[in-house]
Amino acid sequence: MSQALFSLRGVVKRFEQREALNLERLDLEAGVITVVEGPNGAGKTTLLSLLALISPPDRGRLFFDGHELPRSGSQLTAWRRQITLVAQQAYLFETSVDKNVAYGLRLRGMDRATREERVAQALEQVGLAGFGPRRARRLSGGEMQRVALARALVLRPRALLLDEPFANLDPASAQVFERVLGELPGQGCAVVLVSHALEQAHRLAQRVVYLREGRLVPEDGHRPGA
Ligand SMILES: Nc1ncnc2c1ncn2[C@@H]1O[C@H](COP(=O)(O)OP(=O)(O)OP(=O)(O)O)[C@@H](O)[C@H]1O
Ligand SMILES: [Mg+2]
Repeated sequence: MSQALFSLRGVVKRFEQREALNLERLDLEAGVITVVEGPNGAGKTTLLSLLALISPPDRGRLFFDGHELPRSGSQLTAWRRQITLVAQQAYLFETSVDKNVAYGLRLRGMDRATREERVAQALEQVGLAGFGPRRARRLSGGEMQRVALARALVLRPRALLLDEPFANLDPASAQVFERVLGELPGQGCAVVLVSHALEQAHRLAQRVVYLREGRLVPEDGHRPGA
């Protein structure tokens, strides 16, 4: 049996007194695209923040690659670097596309030549070859979203988490996303994708997890229309 990359056990997340998430047991494997669905307010974004180690659970245990993670503290930094979150509203810095995409690699101390090579490759992957020198904040919404995907891809994370990646995309860009994301499981990456774009999401999904009021709905694994 393959070991899960993420394992959540009895994980509860509250905002004030309200329970946003309550997951008795959830395992997410490497090399699998999992789509998380559920109505507004179901806890999908909360789950991604938890998996990205941005927002700690109030209760329960979180394992990554077989290691139990602390809720906070400096040791989390090394784990966080293996996980990348692409938020729904991409936050890009007021600088060039190249510098935006290279940002995480600089933080990790990668040399310039390798950085430039990886950045060019990632921009090419998302169909933005030649966009490097342009000002990131002046791009269109869909172009910015593709820059955000490139910025995540250059890091080659073990887990890639995406919140509504198809939201601002035209059909051609959506196709680019589908193709790029579809290649990641083959590289051993665990992809967790929150999406209401059901058709695209279902084409990509190897697994669908359904959340309602912070809890898993039992038909996990069922793929409507598959
Ligand atoms: N920072 C916060 N403070 C207080 N309540 C919050 C906070 N973040 C989320 N919540 C609440 O937790 C619940 C789950 O929110 P979450 O953003 O995870 O939903 P979602 O499934 O992503 O919804 P949507 O489809 O609208 O994006 C909601 O009731 C929301 O109001
Ligand atoms: Mg959300």
